Amino acid sequence: MKTVDLKIVHAGRAPSEPFMLQGWIRSRRDSKQVSFIEFSDGTTIKNLQLVIEPNLPSFVAISPKLATGAAIEAIGTLVDSPGSKQKYEFRVSEIRLVGETDPETYPLQKKGHTLEFLREIQHLRPRSNTLGAVFRVRSAAALAIHQFFNEQGFYYVHTPIITSSDCEGAGEMFHVTTLDLAQIPKPGGHVDYTQDFFGAEAGLTVSGQLEAEIFATSLKKVYTFGPTFRAENSNTPRHLAEFWMIEPEVAFLDLEGNMDLGEAFIKYLINYVLNNCEDELAFLHAREWVKEPGLMDALKAVATSKFQKLDYSEAIRVLEQSGRKFEFPVRWGIDLQTEHERFLTDEYVKGPVFVVNYPKAIKAFYMKVNDDDKTVRAMDMLVPRLGEIIGGSQREERGDVLLNRIREMKLPEQNYWWYLELRKFGTVPHSGFGLGFERFLMYATGMQNIRDVIPIPRFPGFAKF
Ligand code: 4AD
Ligand code: MG
Repeated sequence: MKTVDLKIVHAGRAPSEPFMLQGWIRSRRDSKQVSFIEFSDGTTIKNLQLVIEPNLPSFVAISPKLATGAAIEAIGTLVDSPGSKQKYEFRVSEIRLVGETDPETYPLQKKGHTLEFLREIQHLRPRSNTLGAVFRVRSAAALAIHQFFNEQGFYYVHTPIITSSDCEGAGEMFHVTTLDLAQIPKPGGHVDYTQDFFGAEAGLTVSGQLEAEIFATSLKKVYTFGPTFRAENSNTPRHLAEFWMIEPEVAFLDLEGNMDLGEAFIKYLINYVLNNCEDELAFLHAREWVKEPGLMDALKAVATSKFQKLDYSEAIRVLEQSGRKFEFPVRWGIDLQTEHERFLTDEYVKGPVFVVNYPKAIKAFYMKVNDDDKTVRAMDMLVPRLGEIIGGSQREERGDVLLNRIREMKLPEQNYWWYLELRKFGTVPHSGFGLGFERFLMYATGMQNIRDVIPIPRFPGFAKF
């Protein structure tokens, strides 16, 4: 017997002869003449109605156990439905119970659940319509990322997850150690990492960028796409301790080219999910927590618009002259807070915007210093509803300037010797950026909390499951 996924069935490619479905019961409804099972197999957001004669022998034997959440196999044929709710339904000739469930304790009953409640049951929440839709979009977007870079002639590089370089220099690395935490060797008050597993201090990467630069100066156009980790104590709906980042890095590319790449990339991803996940997006955009009407149209508009560019100094002027009272006061030199970013995107530009040339004091050491010696060739892409989604820059390719920056920022010089050597042997102007994958998913799906767009979130106080 051929098993067919619901995705195939709903794509109109079900066989005309009998076939088998394998999946789970969403809900059940009985009348004297017939039983209906709302069936789902996870392959699509759409369910299928199973229709069962009450005296079907295989059904009679297991009927009391066919409750919400039970796993079943059903053999039958697809027929036109007399009901008005659906075009077709599945007339069951044989049904089997594969895995039973306890209706008394199964947490996912038919009624809607809050996202907060679903976060408590990470092991079951992808079975909900909402989270199921999110993770199908996530999978499609991941494929689109590889497809985009492949079409653009990029090579995919796997940068290490354990590293000794703190890319952002912000001291937010999780330590990786096998030292006995109860007896850390501390001669002279300093931890003796020579006794540790790697013989040196190591941590989980905050970004694959520095290592990606090795490959950009070898293979020219590369990207990484992997997990990154930040031990920042940010309990916000936009921060995770473990998140996925896509980081292209390109030799002979300047800041303008970098912005063009970022814009083309985001548009490609939007178009891809609009074309491939329309049902999921329509469902998610209609959730009660999505406050923006016409999100689908807004995304379509972005996919064809030209992104605006704003100098940081200009952005500060706009904010100062906005007449707005911000929680964080605005003056030249501050790092933009979410409230500032959202004013720029939601009210001033009314669309995505690149903010460029930030003060060097608030940006990472590797960004190329401008001639004014006050700003760096940084670019952040801000989008409506969210703020920063991409952070990137042209890199400092001048060895002496870079060394000065490392010293100025009091970074451990010895860790960056190889990074400096990239500036010694055939250095070139180069640029890149990082897209927070979950930030993109929030943007596309309208989900309001980053914890609901990653399969199992990690944030301060939470590493369960
Ligand atoms: O702006 P960030 O810190 O830039 C970098 O890490 C660069 N090394 C990237 C590069 O140039 N190759 O981070 C890049 C993006 C942010 O714009 C944001 O979308 C996301 O990563 N991000 C986070 N997402 C979720 N949780 C966090 N804690 C995040 N921190 C950054
Ligand atoms: Mg940033």
